[in-house]
Amino acid sequence: MAAVRCPWLVLTTLLVLLACSGVGAAENLTNLRFYFHEVPSGAPNATIATVASLNKTGSTFGDLKVFDNELREGADRSSQLIGRARGIGVLASLDNSGALSIIEFVFSDYGNYSGSTLATAGHFVMPGTLERSIVGGTGVLRFARGYFTTELISATSDDIVGLIDMYFTTKL
Ligand SMILES: *[C@@H]1O[C@H](CO)[C@@H](O)[C@H](O)[C@H]1NC(C)=O
Ligand SMILES: *[C@@H]1O[C@H](CO)[C@@H](O)[C@H](O)[C@H]1NC(C)=O
Ligand SMILES: *[C@@H]1O[C@H](CO)[C@@H](O)[C@H](O)[C@H]1NC(C)=O
Ligand SMILES: *[C@@H]1O[C@H](CO)[C@@H](O)[C@H](O)[C@H]1NC(C)=O
Repeated sequence: MAAVRCPWLVLTTLLVLLACSGVGAAENLTNLRFYFHEVPSGAPNATIATVASLNKTGSTFGDLKVFDNELREGADRSSQLIGRARGIGVLASLDNSGALSIIEFVFSDYGNYSGSTLATAGHFVMPGTLERSIVGGTGVLRFARGYFTTELISATSDDIVGLIDMYFTTKL
C-alpha cells in the first residue's frame, strides 16, 4: 500500500484533514464571505428608504432607514443571489458619526444555509472598518454568535457594493 510506504503522506493528509475540518486554534468557527448590493434611494427600485427624519438643519440624528438589500456571491451584480439583508438603521449619534443597525440575514439559495437566518445588531461609524455582532440565528444557524465586518467595495448611482465577512459559532 502506498500509504504504508509513504508515512509522511499519511501524516500530511491527516494534518490537511485536521486543518480543513477546523480542529485547531479557530475550533468550530464558521466563516461566511459574500457581498451585499444596495440600490440607493432615488434610484429606480431602491432597496433602502428613509422613513422618518427630524429634519433638523445640520443633524441626521434620529433619521430612520429601512432596507431590503440583496446578498450575492460576488461583487458582480449578475452573480448568484443567495439571500437578503433586511433591517433598519437609525442614526443614533448626536455628532452625526454613525448609525445603529438591526439586520436579519435571510439565506434563500446558499447551500445548506438556505432557509436559515442570522440576526445581527451593532452601531457603526462610516467610513472605516465596520464591525457588528451576530446575536442569534434560526434553522441550522440556531444559537449563532460572533461578529461580522463590512468593507465598502464600490459605489455607483445604482449599486453600492460591500464585502461581508462573518465569523461565528453555533456550538452551545
Ligand atoms: C467544537 O465542537 C465539538 C463537537 O460538537 C465539541 O465537542 C467541542 O467542545 C467544541 N469546541 C469548542 C471550543 O466549542
Ligand atoms: C425595476 O423593477 C421592475 C419590476 O421588477 C423591472 O421591470 C425593472 O426593470 C426594474 N428597473 C431597474 C432600473 O432595475
Ligand atoms: C424633511 O425635509 C424635506 C425637504 O428638505 C421634505 O421633503 C420632507 O418631507 C421633510 N420630512 C419631514 C418628516 O418633515
Ligand atoms: C454547511 O456546509 C459547509 C460546507 O459547504 C460545512 O462546512 C458546514 O459544516 C455545513 N454546516 C452545517 C450546519 O451543516
